[in-house]
Amino acid sequence: MNEQTVIGTPLSSSAVKVMLLGSGELGKEVIIALQRLGVETIAVDRYANAPGHQVAHRAHVINMADGDVLRALIEQEQPHIIVPEIEAIATNMLLEIERLGLAQVIPTARAAQLTMNRERIRCLAAETLGLPTSPYAFANTLGELHTIIEDKIGYPCIVKPVMSSSGKGQSRVNNAAEIQAAWDTAASGGRVDQGRVIVEGVIDFDYEITQLTVRAKNAAGEIVTHFCEPIGHIQVHGDYVESWQPQVMAPLALERAGEIAKKITDNLGGLGIFGVELFIKDDQVWFSEVSPRPHDTGMVTLCSQLQSEFDLHARAILGLPVDTTMHTPGASAVIYGQLEKQGIAFAGVHDALCVPQSDLRLFGKPEAFARRRMGVALANGSDTDEARARAKLAASRVKPIAN
Ligand SMILES: Nc1ncnc2c1ncn2[C@@H]1O[C@H](COP(=O)(O)OP(=O)(O)OP(=O)(O)O)[C@@H](O)[C@H]1O
Ligand SMILES: [Mg+2]
Repeated sequence: MNEQTVIGTPLSSSAVKVMLLGSGELGKEVIIALQRLGVETIAVDRYANAPGHQVAHRAHVINMADGDVLRALIEQEQPHIIVPEIEAIATNMLLEIERLGLAQVIPTARAAQLTMNRERIRCLAAETLGLPTSPYAFANTLGELHTIIEDKIGYPCIVKPVMSSSGKGQSRVNNAAEIQAAWDTAASGGRVDQGRVIVEGVIDFDYEITQLTVRAKNAAGEIVTHFCEPIGHIQVHGDYVESWQPQVMAPLALERAGEIAKKITDNLGGLGIFGVELFIKDDQVWFSEVSPRPHDTGMVTLCSQLQSEFDLHARAILGLPVDTTMHTPGASAVIYGQLEKQGIAFAGVHDALCVPQSDLRLFGKPEAFARRRMGVALANGSDTDEARARAKLAASRVKPIAN
């Protein structure tokens, strides 16, 4: 028998309460999607006035990597559902919260814990599930790093801290003379566990995609896997600058992408959306990594799908049905801060929105850095070439200025 979702009234005793751990631009859109469904939302981040704080019923500033602090807030707020939006969270405490039945962790506490560490998720994907990945090895010291690159992985390779995101601490190594610098970069760019790195052989891919994959309940209450149209994207210094949907793929590559996405998300389990990152060359597909949450490159779905990745996540976690239909080809282009300053302003917004079929999201981040993502331009077109050209034009017209 299917246990049907009942949604109450926010700020009353019948409310369904959802807590976002991490309230950046992705969390902000999840909160908006939840609010539209009448959910009471609690936004948590490590700094004040984060994007999601600005649209939630309540906002909290805590160190989410501190398990005791996290638990105290969860006991105070008593959310029904906890949605991790970032990786840097005390995931041991999430396991404990889940075990005690204090809240449902999305998709599961285990998934949050596995995916925050490149070593755990890579070993699960490659060794337990047998998915194709780049060659890889791990090192704890500069000496070990030399040895595994020289003896095992070869050049060119990419060195990454085992715990980091958005390309932080990553570098490409082309020869032995570059190893020391890569080690130093990893040590400064990693989070929490500074001593360990993964080295990956470089995959010479034709293109890379995000395969958004949703686990949601059907009418019978069973969890079913849904796929969005593939999203193509371009990364610069490990950070996404442009994405589009659909990415045209050879039929066999598309089939393999779906198989890989299904295997990894089946293993991680639970309800919600996943961003499965894949490298493609002809018919070959390699698993790179997976986010058990909306993906930054998936912001394009705000303009290309009936239900954006945020709507899909909101529905899925509430136990509601989803529809992954794409309606029009779309693209997104990132707007960087360009300045190092608090409270910047954006000129050129009128001109940007004069681009046909364009839209903007300005995230409202209180402080800009040169390479901080402050907004995104979205656009539709008759095909992805037209959508990409429009999104890039709109983004280029937005000018961050010192206020
Ligand atoms: N082994 C590899 N071969 C080729 N390119 C790679 C490899 N590993 C990473 N890259 C490139 O670097 C990008 C970022 O790498 P990765 O996704 O591992 O880092 P990340 O810090 O988790 O980034 P994000 O959080 O933005 O997804 C990839 O999308 C890809 O473009
Ligand atoms: Mg990535």
